[in-house]
Amino acid sequence: MAAVVIDGKAFAADVRARVAAHVARLHEEQGIKPGLAVVLVGEDPASQVYVRNKGAQTVDCGMASFEHKLAADTSEADLLALIARLNADPAVHGILVQLPLPRHLNSDLVINSIDPAKDVDGFHISNVGLLGTGQKAMVPCTPLGCLMMLRDHHGSLAGMNAVVVGRSNIVGKPMAQLLLGDSCTVTIAHSRTRDLAAVCRGADILVAAVGRPEMITGDMVKPGATVIDVGINRIEREGRARLVGDVHYASAAAVAGAITPVPGGVGPMTIACLLANTLTACCRSHGLPEPEGLTV
Ligand code: GUN
Repeated sequence: MAAVVIDGKAFAADVRARVAAHVARLHEEQGIKPGLAVVLVGEDPASQVYVRNKGAQTVDCGMASFEHKLAADTSEADLLALIARLNADPAVHGILVQLPLPRHLNSDLVINSIDPAKDVDGFHISNVGLLGTGQKAMVPCTPLGCLMMLRDHHGSLAGMNAVVVGRSNIVGKPMAQLLLGDSCTVTIAHSRTRDLAAVCRGADILVAAVGRPEMITGDMVKPGATVIDVGINRIEREGRARLVGDVHYASAAAVAGAITPVPGGVGPMTIACLLANTLTACCRSHGLPEPEGLTV
């Protein structure tokens, strides 16, 4: 049977609509408007596109968007001073520093200077520790989006075997923590894993987050498994630029029970979850109830 295609674009539109409805209520009933500050250092073209999309979607949801574009040679002291101002600004509930930063800036130092309560990326060590110990954290957006889609598709994930291929701090590790939190039996595989195909074939839920185009092929997928493809790789094929995931879609879809496509799968969920996290951070900062179904 053909795999169910999990439509991340539609799911993200639904998340954004739920965020917008909650934001409208907050404004009407409490006079509060959530605000997201995005800091971009330098002129990386892909980052500029991301930041533009984030700003537009933030405003579309009824939130305030504050963009800070800094020159590529901005000093660490100046960047830390800006973050300190944003930390102290009551109109700013979420702060995102676009990565990667230019090489002369220490990303860990910069990220850890953000107030953890405003760290809507969930990259601050306090949030990493809170997530790892099962406490209320700000959760990284891409894994949060994957978890929302998995919960929506399966209901309970308890007892399922989950394999996460990739061990990055942004996706692989937090994804594994979230799946563990939902009572999956979790394996983290990576470039040094022995017999990766056999490990992947044990997965009821297979999350590919390695950054290698079409590396996970159909023979690595257990029949009926749910495949979540986090990869977004730009490749040239027959003289044309294309976007492909970390999963070889055609062969995996022939075996899987459900699969996310690229584009239109996990990708749109990342910004939707950033908006959800900004709303969550705003509600927490005011001691108000959190939006239902938009946090873990
Ligand atoms: N660069 C690419 N994706 C992301 C993201 O999710 N957050 C940040 N801060 N930078 C990124």
